[in-house]
Amino acid sequence: MSVAHIEIKSTGVYVPEKVLTNIELEKMVDTSDEWITSRTGISTRRIAVDGEATSDLAYKAGLVALEKAGMTPDELELIIVATITPDMFFPSTGCIVQDKLGAKNAVAMDINAACSGYIFSLAIGSRFLETGTYKNALIIGAEKLSCITDWKDRNTCVLFGDGAGAAIITPSNGEGKLLAFDLGSDGSYGDLLYLPGGGSRNPASKETVENRLHYIKMDGNPVFKIAVNKMMATFKKSLKAAGLKPDDISVLITHQANLRIIEALRSFLKLPKEKVFVNIEKYGNTSAASIGIALHEACEKKIIKRGDIIGLAAFGGGLTWGSAIIQY
Ligand code: UT7
Repeated sequence: MSVAHIEIKSTGVYVPEKVLTNIELEKMVDTSDEWITSRTGISTRRIAVDGEATSDLAYKAGLVALEKAGMTPDELELIIVATITPDMFFPSTGCIVQDKLGAKNAVAMDINAACSGYIFSLAIGSRFLETGTYKNALIIGAEKLSCITDWKDRNTCVLFGDGAGAAIITPSNGEGKLLAFDLGSDGSYGDLLYLPGGGSRNPASKETVENRLHYIKMDGNPVFKIAVNKMMATFKKSLKAAGLKPDDISVLITHQANLRIIEALRSFLKLPKEKVFVNIEKYGNTSAASIGIALHEACEKKIIKRGDIIGLAAFGGGLTWGSAIIQY
């Protein structure tokens, strides 16, 4: 069976209850609420409790998406979890979520595209559906970034938060369509944003712990500049592939990394503020989860309605980037 169109049938979200404010961060590192707000747009972020893992967040977001789709877990055929904070090296967080859901008939996997993970999952899941291999997919971007955040490094610790955003995608019977997507990566920029410790290059040891190698390292300024350029370029490509102009976009949702990056993209596309959904002030940068969380919130608030043209754009470690145009 070959299927022409793929729609987002439902969305789901879960964010931990614990809120960490900029004022609390002022007591932890040499920073200020004023610096964080003016340089990033972030006011608070959510932090998972000890013992709560990425799969717990992903599972809860997945349950919401399933309920909203009116589906039971045993109907699921494909589960893709995008994360850079898996519960463990293996089994995949996707398999752990499959077990928690009791989705016995699904095949489950993880993908690692850092903050671009949600768009990568959407693209990969859609291709499986278009070829008729599977009839539905649960895609989840989920992160517990707090466990790889160096709480002594003011350059990074003010940025990140925990959470999960999910979506069920299915072949479309109505107006919902994935109109276009574009993915990209450039591994030569890998050392601008990475986590050096714990893998086969630097296996966990007393030294890797002492040298703080199990935390995110980021050279923020160059990442910022490349993020703006690559997100603009990828979004232009998706617009062209969809045969649309920036003006045709009803709502733009980008990865929530920095309000100034989002603003740069908005001004490049000459979109009015009301067409760009932003929630970075509440959750900070949740990597692969951020677009899924924002999409769910925008749908729940009826900012996005069925038939609207939605633009998605992301950028992250790898370096990776991606964009998608969806008729919702
Ligand atoms: O999600 C994946 C992709 N990630 C991103 O897209 C992140 C992209 N990068 C950024 O968002 C920004 O580069 C940051 C928010 C990380 C930093 O903003 P910036 O405007 O690029 O600042 P900067 O790194 O150039 O630093 C400016 C100053 C420095 O002080 P000096 O050297 O000028 O004296 C930093 O030490 O700000 C200082 N600084 C801080 N000051 C107070 C850096 N972090 C802090 C802080 N509080 N938390």
